[in-house]
Amino acid sequence: MSKISLYDLLSQAQGKEKVNMQQLYGDVLVRKSIQKRIPLSVQFELLPLCNFSCKFCYVRMTAQEVEQSGNHIMRFADWKEQIDGARSLGASSMTFTGGECTIHPDFIDIYEYAYNCGMQVCMISNGSNITEEMLDLFRRCPPSKIFITLYGMSEKAYADTCGNGAAFEKVIQNIQTLKALGIHLILNYTAGKENFADMEAVLAFGREQKMEVIPTNALIHKDKCTADTLQNELVDYYDYLKLEHQHLSILRGKSFEAFEESYFSSFFEPIPAEEGGLQCNAGRCTYTVNWLGKMKPCANFDFPQYDPRKIGFESAWKKIVEWADSVPLLEECESCIFQPKCRRCAAMHYGDMGEFNRVSPRFCFKKLFPQQAETMLAKYEQLKAEGKIESLNRWNNGGEEQTDPIGRCP
Ligand SMILES: C[S@@+](CC[C@H](N)C(=O)[O-])C[C@H]1O[C@@H](n2cnc3c(N)ncnc32)[C@H](O)[C@@H]1O
Ligand code: SF4
Ligand code: SF4
Repeated sequence: MSKISLYDLLSQAQGKEKVNMQQLYGDVLVRKSIQKRIPLSVQFELLPLCNFSCKFCYVRMTAQEVEQSGNHIMRFADWKEQIDGARSLGASSMTFTGGECTIHPDFIDIYEYAYNCGMQVCMISNGSNITEEMLDLFRRCPPSKIFITLYGMSEKAYADTCGNGAAFEKVIQNIQTLKALGIHLILNYTAGKENFADMEAVLAFGREQKMEVIPTNALIHKDKCTADTLQNELVDYYDYLKLEHQHLSILRGKSFEAFEESYFSSFFEPIPAEEGGLQCNAGRCTYTVNWLGKMKPCANFDFPQYDPRKIGFESAWKKIVEWADSVPLLEECESCIFQPKCRRCAAMHYGDMGEFNRVSPRFCFKKLFPQQAETMLAKYEQLKAEGKIESLNRWNNGGEEQTDPIGRCP
């Protein structure tokens, strides 16, 4: 397997006016950790409970459901064991999520313990329950990032989507307070039927506040977000993409037309997988622990699950790695010139199709835009025949419209 050299670093930086050293360092660290299969970062779903009840949520349980399951929320001592276990495997970054991690009765102790162990601490929150004690905590132990999901820009969107209209004002206030503390905030926006009317306003808010917004329309299909929920909540893909492109064109100082023109004419030499198995970070340099303390590859997969308290952390991680390495590739994508335009998360495709190696049409550029894809494919074949296609590699394929504009693992 190739080593990361100064040449790799310089190649990645080549052609870019500004180089984000932190990002570059992070990328290298991630690559190294994948090579060595070290779980660099771990996500802890502290509890499945939440003070919101989003219609599309894939994880939330009511207190009654928790009770009926016969299980209990894990307390500080259990999470301390999980943090120590992750550290013993080499983790240096931890993200707290849920449910809503800020409503966990031991949130402050758990967070502070991880921080004092030298971890970079992040959290994903709905931003509605940031108390004075938490602000003190963040002053003492600054998080490396906080992701706040902004579900709209109105009480109505919050009432209709999250069942908590009153939270809207509070969330906006908390965002301002956290921003004033100098915390690196990133806004998530998850589009459902009831908050889609606010998408433009959410993106505009992010631009005004100079905060990165990561929108998604890619609702994951899992036990809690059933096929029926998905049916009711999925927004029109083309309407969604238009707003995403509008946002990106403003950020890049281009006209919408110029942005789209470029989007619908850029294609790439396919990048074959270096090896089989999952191609993202799950089970390669990261894992998730669910509210019952079970280790799994990521939040998007509910299987496989191993209990590190029963079989040991090393053995649980080894099993997760073995599983991740055995997941079949999405073969249709392997030779495809539209790779960077698609969400190629194996869990998302699996969720829709019920088996690996089948591409879900809702995440596939050539199925979503068959006419444009055909024209682009013909152009590619022509350029290839003329010997005009330059091979692109992982480090230099990042033109503006070349990558999935705002891709993420939800
Ligand atoms: C499960 S929540 C937990 C953290 C916190 N409660 C929040 O809402 O940000 C993490 C992220 O997953 C998103 N999410 C929830 N259900 C989803 C689904 N079915 N598909 C995709 N993303 C989803 C949420 O909007 C949020 O951005
Ligand atoms: S706020 Fe987050 S955890 Fe709570 S219901 Fe919504 S998506 Fe689920
Ligand atoms: S999802 Fe579809 S368009 Fe995207 S890379 Fe795979 S086959 Fe190609």
